[in-house]
Amino acid sequence: FVVDKGNYKHFMAKEIHEQPEVVARTLAHYIDFANNCVRLPFELPFDPKALTGITLTACGTAYYAGLVGKYWFERFARLRVEIDVASEFRYREAPMPENGLMLVVSQSGETADTLASLRYAKTQGQKIIGVVNVSTSTIARESDVAAPTLAGPEIGVASTKAFTCQLTVLASLAIALGRARGVLSADEEKRLVNELMVVPGLLAESMKLEPKIEQLSHRLGKTTDVLYLGRGPSYPLALEGALKLKEISYIHAEGYAAGELKHGPIALIDEQLPVIVIAPSDPVLEKTVSNLQEVSARGGKIILLGDAHSIAAAATPLAGEIVMPAMAPDFSAIVYAAPIQMLAYHTAVFMGKDVDQPRNLAKSVTVE
Ligand code: G6P
Repeated sequence: FVVDKGNYKHFMAKEIHEQPEVVARTLAHYIDFANNCVRLPFELPFDPKALTGITLTACGTAYYAGLVGKYWFERFARLRVEIDVASEFRYREAPMPENGLMLVVSQSGETADTLASLRYAKTQGQKIIGVVNVSTSTIARESDVAAPTLAGPEIGVASTKAFTCQLTVLASLAIALGRARGVLSADEEKRLVNELMVVPGLLAESMKLEPKIEQLSHRLGKTTDVLYLGRGPSYPLALEGALKLKEISYIHAEGYAAGELKHGPIALIDEQLPVIVIAPSDPVLEKTVSNLQEVSARGGKIILLGDAHSIAAAATPLAGEIVMPAMAPDFSAIVYAAPIQMLAYHTAVFMGKDVDQPRNLAKSVTVE
């Protein structure tokens, strides 16, 4: 890897644009393309049929990757997933199940809280898989198995390509566990693997939306608050979108589960507040649309991130739309991450912020 900005103004822009390539490379490490099945690059350190559940911990963006992964492990492997931020988990003295798997996710592999959680889980007899981007890191070494993300060095403080590679590994692992546990049939595995295989191409296609996203970002750059809403795997994406925006533009942003709207954030809706609704065509679209209409009825300014179908389904005036290519629903979260990152990036650039080195933040938090 040559660690320079190439033709980009910032490392973050370069890393966003590298995603089709690094996600493809990560996939190639986990997928047998000739047979349309997952082939893990390691032996599972446990009997998958005896596995009782997964505990997942991480920090920041890696935590949100884990939160998306939870939906996949539950659905495709029928495994219970307990997930928490590492700074909470490490001190909770949580009881852990017999034959349990601890999954930690970390770009750097050095985050202090994540490492402490890993060490606690070991004392509780858990098997550890560390999803890490740095293969020589402490977390990689202390895990029973290191599951590599092949994102290459990530320099921008705000994580982008590491996130989509983490999602790619978690998706592959969920399919592999589903298959090994006898939950997924060979045909279902094939269908899911086929969906994963088209993700790099869809990421490349979504990069073409950048001019439109840049245009929208000029409006966001003039606001003080932004609300992100999503359901299902789009809920953690809403959290990640809000995190990205606040990290680099310093605009106050909140991510919320769309269904929680009426339990609080609906009180914030007025004609000023931009509400970014993440709504791919998936089984919960109809529910998300009804939340979106609640926002619209109160004069909220909706920016819809969806495909042609979901935008038509919204059937309400929009302040902006980002029209994604149509895709199968299962792994759309990996593709939808890209426009969310681009929106935060361009907003921060428009505002003249230091995108690669945002104030007060560190790339890797190795102390508490
Ligand atoms: C810091 C970085 C984030 C990252 C988080 C977890 O806060 O600024 O981008 O998501 O740490 O880091 P890790 O290396 O464990 O993924």
